[in-house]
Amino acid sequence: MILPKRLNKIAELIEDDVVVIDVGCDHALLDIYLTLNRNNVFCYACDIKESALEIAKKNINKYKLDNKIEVRCCDGISDLEINNNTIIVISGMGKSTIMHILDDDRIYNARRIIIQSNNEIEDLRNDMINKGFCIDNEVVSFDRNKYYVIISFKKGNKKYSNDELYLGPILIKNNKENSDYFKFLLEKEKNILGTIPSKYVYIRKNIEKNIEKIIQLLK
Ligand SMILES: C[S@@+](CC[C@H](N)C(=O)[O-])C[C@H]1O[C@@H](n2cnc3c(N)ncnc32)[C@H](O)[C@@H]1O
Repeated sequence: MILPKRLNKIAELIEDDVVVIDVGCDHALLDIYLTLNRNNVFCYACDIKESALEIAKKNINKYKLDNKIEVRCCDGISDLEINNNTIIVISGMGKSTIMHILDDDRIYNARRIIIQSNNEIEDLRNDMINKGFCIDNEVVSFDRNKYYVIISFKKGNKKYSNDELYLGPILIKNNKENSDYFKFLLEKEKNILGTIPSKYVYIRKNIEKNIEKIIQLLK
């Protein structure tokens, strides 16, 4: 079974011998892939929409995994047990939906939380750090002409600079392998700067700072 590149990058962050709660599983492709390709991984494929879960069930049935993946219709992590063996995955949603799902104290019991937000990545890092999580891994996937940032959080307190919150502390460390992503961000910032009238000095200065930081990383 071949996963879309974005989901494959998420799968690469998941080890053997864990329980995965895939919140908003939709098609459940990640759960099927992990069940087939990891040792001793049990997946809960969860979604708030019955219609999505019908497709998930069909896909699971196609791979004859009906007894190996548990399908749940629920809002977020609902009443699922979360412990040091649990990895929560939330991908393909907007930041506010993700933070709504994570508004539950039981998330602190999880081994890790892997998030791929469709927007507001800097705010997501900030919100998770304010919640008492730190970043233990970050990767970028380029899939169907779009960049996706996938972040793995674990419980812990760590201070991050504004640059790290914006660009990602681990992506910065691995700047060479993420250079295409940074080039994309650079173009995005330049385009935004082009739309800001010169009277907005403060806003322009901040964008110029971002541009300078990315240029330094690309050297
Ligand atoms: C765009 S799909 C992403 C599917 C998959 N996770 C992926 O990355 O390809 C988003 C899914 O999240 C589900 N969803 C949205 N809010 C949710 C919530 N509060 N709890 C559970 N599922 C939710 C939607 O029904 C939808 O199936």
